[in-house]
Amino acid sequence: MTQAYPKVSIIGAGMVGATLAQRVLESGLADVVLLDIAKNMAIGKSLDLSDASPITGHEMTVIGTDDYKNIASSGIVVVTAGFARKPGMTREDLIAKNSQVVKSVSENIKKYAPDSIVIVVTNPLDSMTYLAYKTTGFKREKVFGMAGLLDASRFIYLISSELKVPRSSVQTYMLGSHGDTMVPILSKTSVSGKPIRELMPKNRIDEIVKRTRERGAEIIKLLGSGSAYYSPSAAVFKMIGAILADKKETVVASACLDGEYGLKNIAIGVPCKIGKNGIEKIVELELSQEEDIAFRRSAEAIKSSIDIL
Ligand code: LAC
Repeated sequence: MTQAYPKVSIIGAGMVGATLAQRVLESGLADVVLLDIAKNMAIGKSLDLSDASPITGHEMTVIGTDDYKNIASSGIVVVTAGFARKPGMTREDLIAKNSQVVKSVSENIKKYAPDSIVIVVTNPLDSMTYLAYKTTGFKREKVFGMAGLLDASRFIYLISSELKVPRSSVQTYMLGSHGDTMVPILSKTSVSGKPIRELMPKNRIDEIVKRTRERGAEIIKLLGSGSAYYSPSAAVFKMIGAILADKKETVVASACLDGEYGLKNIAIGVPCKIGKNGIEKIVELELSQEEDIAFRRSAEAIKSSIDIL
């Protein structure tokens, strides 16, 4: 039987996974498989999402399961499974527990969905992306992580609120790790084409960069349990849209480098053109000296995380 719609499988039916499922279904882009070791939770959420469809008006199918057989023939598999940070934890604190989860999930993806494109969301994002790449053995174009897009979105929102300008007028890139060493590319940050440094004093920019870096932790603290999910799921959804519609859109993703930016054996946030084959091209931006130093420092931090694996 041929599939009427593309299939997106989401591993982990927590808040990020379930919110992503909702976005995908309601957009009419793809059928969804929601997989979790907590089988009943996955099934319960799939029933709830299905029940909403006559109201939201789509004909997509969603199933909840704990059986990896169901992810067969997925075009895209999103990995959200794993532990979220508790208040006060860094993303790196999750490495021991989440590397076991990501390794086992990746083995199953390799077995049941060998032709899929894999988007990793589990933290610590960059090292988990590298682990998924190594474990699946897929081509590097087909395994990448979500994060720079989310970090840039947070930065853009905060800039637009400060300057009272439309969010769509703000341009920026956030490179490096999805962690404390993330690198805002201020030399390419602008509002309606005007450099940010001409619009805001340095201390305000520094303050907003700090707030952006700590945004995930700020939200975790406020929620009390769990971490952000509306914005992370929005970022993954944008990547899925770029793949399914072959948009060749440039977004910052955690990509496995093989010489680009002078780096190898690492996954790190860099601008990537995303299309039907996954990463169609890694864009090498010209960085200022200061940005280049910060980017390399961020790469060092990721390398030490990968070394632990
Ligand atoms: C955050 C998680 C996705 O930044 O790392 O909210």
